[in-house]
Amino acid sequence: MKRRIGILTSGGDCPGLNATIRGVARAAYEMFDAEIVGIADGYRGLIEGEWQEMKRSQFSGILTLGGTILGTSRTPFRNMREIGEDNVDKVAAMKKHYSEMKLDCLVTLGGNGTHKTANLLSQEGLNVIGLPKTIDNDIYGTDFTFGFHTAVDIATEVIDRIHSTAASHGRTMVIEIMGNKAGWLTLYSGLAGGADVVLLPEIPYDIKEVAKVVEQRAKNKKAFSIIAVAEGAMTKKEAKMKKKEREAARQEEGFNGVANRIAKQLSEMVGVEARAVLPGHIQRGGSPSAYDRVLATQFGVHAAQLIERGEYGYTVALAGNTITHNRLAEIAGVPKPVPVDHQMVKVARDMGILFGD
Ligand code: F6P
Repeated sequence: MKRRIGILTSGGDCPGLNATIRGVARAAYEMFDAEIVGIADGYRGLIEGEWQEMKRSQFSGILTLGGTILGTSRTPFRNMREIGEDNVDKVAAMKKHYSEMKLDCLVTLGGNGTHKTANLLSQEGLNVIGLPKTIDNDIYGTDFTFGFHTAVDIATEVIDRIHSTAASHGRTMVIEIMGNKAGWLTLYSGLAGGADVVLLPEIPYDIKEVAKVVEQRAKNKKAFSIIAVAEGAMTKKEAKMKKKEREAARQEEGFNGVANRIAKQLSEMVGVEARAVLPGHIQRGGSPSAYDRVLATQFGVHAAQLIERGEYGYTVALAGNTITHNRLAEIAGVPKPVPVDHQMVKVARDMGILFGD
């Protein structure tokens, strides 16, 4: 049986993309007569027709490699149906290039936006399989995405390293962890790194509550405090605003990121010496952890198995200890925020960690 497979990686990169690509490719070459086409920079390459025939050797030596050998780009789903100034019908162009490449199927590695476009292409009649990537872990229907655990390891190491310098100087350190809409990364790394306060987009905070903890710790002769805050965290007041209103209020305020804001407020309110730490894209860079290499390989092999059986319109997922798949149509665009009563939130609360609410 012969199958010609197109692969693309789309959206923000993360550790484990190459390991997943390798998993799909190696299993496909082992299991059937596979031909693989690498599409450049995500949907951009599919729209513009930039692709290359891959050789088996190109999938060798990439298990541990960070980033993506195919390149990636952010091509927002909301613009997919719009004809822009270049007059290109993006959906028609993607279908045309899929045919020109003579593909039996398209494998898309990406997050929520990528899955929405994958679903659109599936509904347009293309054979599509999705693979769930993101350090944010916010794809519905899978317990974990690949890339998440590596990012947790990195963010935890950041918190650990900040811990010792915070303790030496008696400082309050506010560490901004990636995650605009979902706080999984902050929750896991905050717990793993022993943060005193964890602030998530899902649980709006009151700065007075945060200040109380810092003050209380100082009274208890703990001169330092560790605050892990998700980049998308917001105050209770902000949570009541519409997005545009919030953005305008922040502009007025001279908002320069949530960690900077909190550090400034705490030094003014409590009189502590506070610093903001922004590890930023370090959290997405470099080699995947052993956990993510294993997950990526399992996901990739599962995708190859679906291709072998000619089952399309799915995205691969982890449910408990089982690798499975969900219908693209059922998960595409469905967010997966941290439930406010999630077991991990309860564990953290029972440990005395404050969420600022
Ligand atoms: O989706 C992954 C992610 O790293 C988010 O955590 C973060 O909000 C966003 O991407 C940053 O995007 P960019 O790399 O485009 O600045």
